[in-house]
Amino acid sequence: MNAEIKKGLYGVVVDETRVSKVMPETNSLTYRGYPVQELCTKASFLEVAHLLLKKELPNENELASFSELEKSQRQISPDLMKIIDLIPQHSHPMDMVRTAISYLALEQTNLEDRSEQNYVSQAISLLAKVPTIIAYLIRKKRNQPLLEPSSSLDFNENFFNMCFAKVPSSTILKAFDVSLILYAEHSFNASTFTARVITSSLSDFYGAVCGGISSLKGPLHGGANEAVMKMLLDINGLENADDWVNKRLEEKKVIMGFGHRVYKSGDSRVPTMKKYYIDVAKELEQEEWVEISNRVEEIILKKKNIHPNLDFPAGPAYYLMGFDIDFFTPLFVMSRITGWAAHIIEQNSDNRLIRPLSHYNGELQREVKEITQR
Ligand code: COA
Repeated sequence: MNAEIKKGLYGVVVDETRVSKVMPETNSLTYRGYPVQELCTKASFLEVAHLLLKKELPNENELASFSELEKSQRQISPDLMKIIDLIPQHSHPMDMVRTAISYLALEQTNLEDRSEQNYVSQAISLLAKVPTIIAYLIRKKRNQPLLEPSSSLDFNENFFNMCFAKVPSSTILKAFDVSLILYAEHSFNASTFTARVITSSLSDFYGAVCGGISSLKGPLHGGANEAVMKMLLDINGLENADDWVNKRLEEKKVIMGFGHRVYKSGDSRVPTMKKYYIDVAKELEQEEWVEISNRVEEIILKKKNIHPNLDFPAGPAYYLMGFDIDFFTPLFVMSRITGWAAHIIEQNSDNRLIRPLSHYNGELQREVKEITQR
């Protein structure tokens, strides 16, 4: 076989999709035809979740019933809380969230129902419960008691209230909402493709989501938002930024939050997220973080011509909002559940088992010798 191998599936088009379109040539991104920047200014994350799961932006009545459905499912069971309590505390929160979702699957009695209607219901259930799981984990790590979800608060207000026992300013709520919109969907990235591969064998919805979470955790994918903040803390002041980055580049090390498989001249989501990161930093009078970020960006652009990706402004924005670093990627999960679900539904609606080939380059056929003669 002499087929050309595209390492990392670079440039390979594996299927069609109607969920989102990444256009690197114009640095733009649309969800079901809507430019993501416009969604950030004119819609909420919940409306975008509706768009991804139900294929259209909701009207007022549709949004009200979608929101009611989400609010009514925020509680997690006492059994799930017991499972969470058993998880070793040294575990990464991504693994904890994956384990919790794996348990949620066991609570379902209709895992084998692959209808679109069931998948949308399961996605809404996760959309409602994952914030409660994350908030429970955040508070457990801080030795604080769980705060019950409140159906009188909207999606973001409720999440912050469960995490920190207060609803933050409108600037922080808006910046968080925008981050969720921008993180919601991005075509055939590694975690989405993983979810589609799992779906293609006719496995269940929760299994596909758990696979997506495992893929997203990696620092070359969603885990980069955590790595970015660790880098900014390690730089430890604007005056050290040049030396830090130059040393790292000399050592030929990867700088987290930079580069992208598809966008080679800038990530379409960065300017929007950056604007809201700056808003948060200004409000909290912590603009030195933005100064360090800007300097790092300048040097890498000048020396390597590599642009920042969404994780670069999202990481420090989450830090300023008060989240612990190891919870940044779980926040990404809270949002990306919607994109994964849209792709799981799409894959399932026109499925063919995903099963590529490989070129074998190991030993040729060998004889198995008796153990005494090897
Ligand atoms: N820092 C330093 N150099 C980088 C870089 C980074 N963040 N991203 C890419 N490069 C360099 C590579 O070393 C390579 O250089 P070379 O041609 O001299 O070997 C070149 O740019 C091409 O990069 P490549 O790794 O082939 O691109 P890719 O499409 O396979 O990888 C990423 C894309 C995202 C995995 C890669 O850019 C990366 O590791 N980024 C950091 C992690 C990150 O932020 N991930 C979140 C993505 S949204």
